[in-house]
Amino acid sequence: MATITVDGERYEVSEGRTVLQALDDLGVLMAGVEIPHYCWHPKLSIDGSCRLCQVEVEGVPKLQIACDTRVRDGMVIDTKSERVRRAREGVMELLLVNHPLDCPICDQAGECKLQDYAFAYGVGHSRSREARRPAKKRVELGPTIVFDQERCILCRRCVRFCREVPGSGELGVFARGDDSMIETFPGAELDNPYSMNVADICPVGALTTRDFRFKIRVWFLEDVPGLCTGCSNGCNVHLGVANNKVYRYVPRRNDAVNETWICDAGRLSYQQIGSADRLTQALVRGELGVLEQTPLPEALDAAAGALRGVVDAHGAEAIGGVASAHASNEDLFVFRRFLQALGARSAAVAVPTGDSDEVLIKAEKAANAEGARALGFMGPTELVEALGSGALRAVVVMGHDLVGSGAVELAALAGLEVIVLLDTHRSELERIAHVVLPTRHAAEKDASYTNHAGRVQRSFAAVEPAFEARPDGELLSGLGVRLGLPGFDGRFDVAAISDALAAEHPTFAGRALASLSEDGAPGPEG
Ligand code: FES
Repeated sequence: MATITVDGERYEVSEGRTVLQALDDLGVLMAGVEIPHYCWHPKLSIDGSCRLCQVEVEGVPKLQIACDTRVRDGMVIDTKSERVRRAREGVMELLLVNHPLDCPICDQAGECKLQDYAFAYGVGHSRSREARRPAKKRVELGPTIVFDQERCILCRRCVRFCREVPGSGELGVFARGDDSMIETFPGAELDNPYSMNVADICPVGALTTRDFRFKIRVWFLEDVPGLCTGCSNGCNVHLGVANNKVYRYVPRRNDAVNETWICDAGRLSYQQIGSADRLTQALVRGELGVLEQTPLPEALDAAAGALRGVVDAHGAEAIGGVASAHASNEDLFVFRRFLQALGARSAAVAVPTGDSDEVLIKAEKAANAEGARALGFMGPTELVEALGSGALRAVVVMGHDLVGSGAVELAALAGLEVIVLLDTHRSELERIAHVVLPTRHAAEKDASYTNHAGRVQRSFAAVEPAFEARPDGELLSGLGVRLGLPGFDGRFDVAAISDALAAEHPTFAGRALASLSEDGAPGPEG
C-alpha cells in the first residue's frame, strides 16, 4: 500500500495503480475528487490522449496526466491549482475547435461530458476564425449505432472497446494529425454482440444508438436500478423511466457481474416490458371452448375450482407444478409452498438455452434458473415421465418456458384436464390453457434473482402495468386461500415473503430483500 495526499486528503491506495485507478478503487473519483477525463475508462487500456486529466504533483516540474501516472508513497497531488485549471481550459479550447457546439439538437445533451466540462472549464468564446473541418453526418456504422463524426473528440474509447472487450476490432483511427478520424475498417460494419456499449462510453454525442436516439431528452428520465433478465448473468442496469414507461436499459457498474457492459440483446430486452404481446387480462376457457376475458377474482375462482375438481377426482398427486426460471426467488418460494401445501406431485423447471460467450452472455436464457434449483425445482424429466404415463391430470405453470425451451411438446400437455397458466406474455401454451392469469414483468415488481454464480440481486418496481397484472406470488396466494391451503391467507407482502425465505433456506440466509445492497449479495462463486 502507498499513502497519497490529494487536495489535502490522505488516502491509502494500492502500489502499482495509476492515480485515476487508485481513486476509482476507493470510489472517490468524480465522487469527491474531481479529475475530469475523456479517454480513460476503468475497464479499458490506458490511452493518455485527451490530456484533460492533468494534475500537479509536488516535486514534479510539469503537470502529469493522472490516468497514466503511478502512485508512489508520499505523493502529494493538487487537482485544483491555478495551473491545473488553466491546463484544462486549454485542452477544452482545443477540443472545441472543431466541435459543432450543437447541444440543442444533440441527443447526448444532458449526459455529455463535453457539455459538462465545457461548462466547467470552457472559456465562453472562440478564438478560432477558421471553418470547422468537414466530417460525416449520421453515418450508420452498423445495425445499432449512428455516428456523427463532427462531434468526435478522438478519445478512442470506442476503438479500444471493440478490440479489447468483444475482440471484434471493427473501428480504427484513420489518417494523421489534424485529419485523424474514427472510421470502420473498409468493408466492415460495427456489428458485434456488445456494439451498443460504444454509445455509453462515448463521452460526447458522436456515437448514439439507433434504438434510443431522439426518443426522449435524458433529463426527463429517472434512473431506476434493476437487472437485465435476458440470461443467467444478471447484468446490472439502470432502467430509464419516464411517463410510467421504460425507454432504455443502460449498464450499471458492478465489477463482480458485468463490469460496465451489457450485451445488445439484453439492452434491447426492455422492449418486452411494454410489448404488444403482453397478457393484459385474465382469461378462462368458456363452455364453447374459447378463452374469454374474465375479471381476475373470477378467474382465480375458476382456477381454484378446476384444481379442486382434480384433487377430488384423482388426488393431489395428479397435479404438477412447473416453475419458471424467469420468476423471482420470492415468487418461486410461494410456488414451492403452494405445491407442498396442495400435496402436488412434481415440481419442475424448464430453462430455455441459447448461445453463450466468454464475456457476459450465458447459455441459460433466464434470470433465475439458479434460484429455482436452489428452491428444489429440478429439470422436467420426472414431469415428462408423469405426463407420458398419464399420472398427471393438471398442471400449474409459471410462464411458457416449458414449451418455449423445447422441454415438452405442446401436444404432450393437450390431454390434461386442467392447465392453469401464469404468464407475462402470450404464447403457444395459452392456446391449450384453461385459465390464464396475467403476471408482472421483473421491471414491475420488487424482487430478487439469483444469477449463475449464486449472487442474489434485487430489482425494483420501475413502472406500474396499465392493466391488471399481479406478481406470480400474489396470484398463487389468491389460489391458495381459495383452495383452503394451510399457510395461505390471501395476503402477499414481498418483504415478508423474502424474510421467510431467508429464514427457511440456508442458501438465502442473510440475503432477504431488505438486506441486499444495489450490488447484490455474492454467492459461493462470487
Ligand atoms: Fe488522461 Fe485522457 S484521461 S489523458
